[in-house]
Amino acid sequence: MTISEDLNRRFSPGPQLTFGETADGLVVAAIDTPQASAALCLQGAHVMTWRPKTQAEPVLWLSGLAKPTPGKSLRGGVPVCWPWFGPHATDGALPAHGFARTVPWRVAAAGVLGDGAVELALELVMTASARGMWPRRVRAGLRLVIGETFRAELTTVNEDDAEVVIGEALHTYFRIGDIAQARVRGLEGCEYLDKVDGGARKRQDGAIGFAGETDRIYVDTKAACVIEDDRLRRRIHIAKTGSRSTVVWTPWTEKADRMGDFGPEGWRAMVCVESANAADNRVTIAPGDNHTLSVEYRAENF
Ligand code: BG6
Repeated sequence: MTISEDLNRRFSPGPQLTFGETADGLVVAAIDTPQASAALCLQGAHVMTWRPKTQAEPVLWLSGLAKPTPGKSLRGGVPVCWPWFGPHATDGALPAHGFARTVPWRVAAAGVLGDGAVELALELVMTASARGMWPRRVRAGLRLVIGETFRAELTTVNEDDAEVVIGEALHTYFRIGDIAQARVRGLEGCEYLDKVDGGARKRQDGAIGFAGETDRIYVDTKAACVIEDDRLRRRIHIAKTGSRSTVVWTPWTEKADRMGDFGPEGWRAMVCVESANAADNRVTIAPGDNHTLSVEYRAENF
């Protein structure tokens, strides 16, 4: 029996959620319900696509060049950054954004909720290499509820006998019509660290519009955000709990060209609004304690 046959036998509640495998042996799950379609890769617990059926366009952006590859994160969808965000604080040789997005995750439970949404509970597998990078007794789990809305809960459980400090993000790439005709509301007046200006602390004046590379950590921001997309005539609502930072990132043309995995003009059709705990907002978890960061996304047309 293949891995995906075994997963289908143990966890598939029906045609709404089915598991398959790539030629490289990575497990992908396909979700198809009357409300939505979605796909995710078990490596990284990486949701790749999500489209509520009320929407002509997917709500998540995925690079046209993205292909699940062992040990490599996908460009797009919802990468899970954990247990640190951005470069590691003391060791520049460790991978940016931690290792959660490149290690295998296992399925713990799956089902269909009363409203038809698919629920999936995943657990991070602490590989020997991950333990080498972060030798702590800590578990991470991701609960997904995918339907007309998208919910994700990233839970960290500290089973160590010392406190742990984590940085984390659901580094979501949202699909938009044209970055030059989109703005993010909800962070007006908030303080941010401007990564394209050496980390300078600044204050947001009005809604966030885009005219070049933007890479900002808005600190102490718990409120919901909205992406307003004039081209697709759509608003994407981003609500969250357990997250005190919001990262807004778009590479613009030169950085996207340097990065090489955006595909032609891919950068125009995406913006990352990341629900995070980063920089000043990293989370300290006492021994035996746990912490959950959760998001809920919803799209509406205007
Ligand atoms: C963002 C960071 O969260 O992620 C950016 O603020 C970074 O600085 C971007 O370039 C993408 O990171 P990566 O590791 O997926 O290329």
